[in-house]
Formats: sequence, C-alpha cells, structure tokens
Amino acid sequence: MTVDELMAIQPVIPVITVERVEDAAPLAHALVSAGLRVLEVTLRTEQALACMKVMSKTSGAIVGAGTVLTSNDVMLAREAGAQFIVTPGLSASAVAASREANLPILPGIATATELMAGLDLGLDRFKFFPAEQAGGRAMIDAFKGPFGRVKFCPTGGISLDLARDYLTRSNVGCVGGGWVAPTKLIDAKMWEEIARLAKEAAGLKRG
Ligand code: 3PG
Repeated sequence: MTVDELMAIQPVIPVITVERVEDAAPLAHALVSAGLRVLEVTLRTEQALACMKVMSKTSGAIVGAGTVLTSNDVMLAREAGAQFIVTPGLSASAVAASREANLPILPGIATATELMAGLDLGLDRFKFFPAEQAGGRAMIDAFKGPFGRVKFCPTGGISLDLARDYLTRSNVGCVGGGWVAPTKLIDAKMWEEIARLAKEAAGLKRG
C-alpha cells in the first residue's frame, strides 16, 4: 500500500491511545463498523503493541502505529501487525526502517525546513503536526505556494468542524485526530458513542 492509497481511504484517521487490551477489540469493531477502517494506535501506553495486535485482527481494519519515535519502534510495530507508520517529527532512521519493513510512513513536519528535509529523503506526504498549534489552516495554505505537489494529513487540536474546513484544501489528503475516540469514552467503554463520532467523521467530504 502506498501513502497516497492510505490517505485516500477515509477523510479522518482516528488517533487512538488504548490502555487496556480488553478494550482493543470492541473499540476497533466500533470504529470499523462505523466506516473508519484506518486506525492509528499510538505507542504511548504499556499495552499499545498488544492492543495493536488485537486490533489488526479485526476484520476490515487497517491498523498503523503512531507516536513512532525510533527505528526500533518501527520494528516492534511491524511485529505487532502495523500496516503503516506515523511519526510526530521527521526521523531519517525511522523513514529508513519503514522502507526496509516495506511500510508506508507519514512523518510529522511543522516547518518549511523540516518539510525540505523530508523532500531530501524522497518524501512528499507528511503529517502536519501539531496542526492547530503550528499555524493551522493558514500554514497549510502558505505551504501551497512553494510546495505545490506536497500533501498533508494535519493532526493535533482538530475537531469535527475544523476537519471539515481542512478537508476543503487541495493539499490536504486527510486529517488525523483524537476526538473520534477520546480516552474518557474508551475508559467508560462507550462504544456506541465512539461509533457515532466515527460515523460523523467518516461522512466528511473532501475538496
Ligand atoms: C497525535 O499524536 O497525532 C495527536 O496526539 C493527536 O492530536 P489530538 O488528540 O489533538 O487530535
């Protein structure tokens, strides 16, 4: 799968932080059945890899690892069934490890200089992170001039309404966000509410 294929699947990639393995299957099921197949599971909890293993077995799910910081994280994520890699910043060694593992990668950038370092590595699809804090939609629009062929997945501080607006931009492929499956709803096992939020997100239009 290419990064473009990944970004084309759905308008919103939910960014998920799961603490308990028992929550992994019902959460993945709620999201996939609501129309969000691509799931980014952050490597921020002790059980993240175990959760990823369970979620990647959910029928229809395309599970990737987020908060990947090192090439070793890439290897661990691949072993846990990750089908793509997302990093908060640009790491040449994580990019190399992803290529070695044959996994598409969306590395984070927040400035023109970081973006150009990514171009040097042969990349032209990036997570724009943290999107709202780093300039938001105005920054996405400003990147359009010098970097016309680059596409972004803005993530960080995005809500349903902001996502709708980001998605009108031609250089935004999709957006990422934690609002679809917030920790407090996961902790409360509110799968139906998460499915409702996921359905709303899955219904957003691009362009
Ligand atoms: C990420 O790692 O991509 C962010 O934590 C997601 O940010 P959000 O929770 O503000 O959407």
